[in-house]
Amino acid sequence: MGTVYLIGAGPGDPGLLTLRGARILRRAAVVVHDALVDARILAMAPPQAERIDVGKRYGRSFPQSAIHHLLIEAARRARTVVRLKGGDPFVFGRGGEEVAALVAAGVRFEIVPGVSAALGAAAYAGIPLTHRDHASAVTFVTGQENPARDQDRIDWQALAKTRGTLAIYMGVHHLRDIAAQLIAGGAAPDTPAAVVESATQPNQRTVTATLGDIAEAAQQADIDTPALVLVGAVVRLQRNWFEERRRTRKVRREAAVSGD
Ligand SMILES: C[S@@+](CC[C@H](N)C(=O)[O-])C[C@H]1O[C@@H](n2cnc3c(N)ncnc32)[C@H](O)[C@@H]1O
Repeated sequence: MGTVYLIGAGPGDPGLLTLRGARILRRAAVVVHDALVDARILAMAPPQAERIDVGKRYGRSFPQSAIHHLLIEAARRARTVVRLKGGDPFVFGRGGEEVAALVAAGVRFEIVPGVSAALGAAAYAGIPLTHRDHASAVTFVTGQENPARDQDRIDWQALAKTRGTLAIYMGVHHLRDIAAQLIAGGAAPDTPAAVVESATQPNQRTVTATLGDIAEAAQQADIDTPALVLVGAVVRLQRNWFEERRRTRKVRREAAVSGD
């Protein structure tokens, strides 16, 4: 019986994978991975390793029970099985369900944390999640709830009262409704908000607006998944170093080509 390693691959930039994650990946016999995992991270596994894409994208899903079955079956024939997940395995990653299935089947497991999208998006968009003067709390919340859990829906109106930073995963397609509920709960319509698309990746884009306008601004900019929404006073402190550096380099390259 092998061991299943649930490894967080981080939000995109392969440099954000942990050293421990990379070390295990380099000796993996089977890699069961999400769609959002960067090809350069997958390439760290040995060439002969079996790679299985169980990726889920908006509107299409690979049954979770089938993933459990795959992991258990792989552990029966291989010594090192890697379950490579975007971000961190235990932050909106269904890692808890996978661990429960492995435990029930008597399969050994380990968990290697990853840089979750909220951390990656905040860092690469240059927005501090907390700040001594502006936010003493940060809440990670999903904008897309499990439809089977009707009785304990997210209380957006209560979240509006926390006054900390909200980091909303999977919220971009529900942004109009989420913003309306936060405002109904007492959040000021002019609270700063940002949507970071494809955070930490070369095509990262950040749109900022007020909470009242953010849904419209994201739609106008044609923002798509994966995207992370940040709401709170800290958005006003943004220093967009990553996108600005990319723009500067592009201008320099174009100038070099045209001989200016
Ligand atoms: C199913 S959740 C997985 C979260 C992951 N386990 C983590 O810790 O980041 C997928 C959501 O994470 C966010 N996300 C993941 N990668 C992202 C990225 N590179 N940029 C922005 N948001 C991202 C998006 O909100 C996306 O819809």
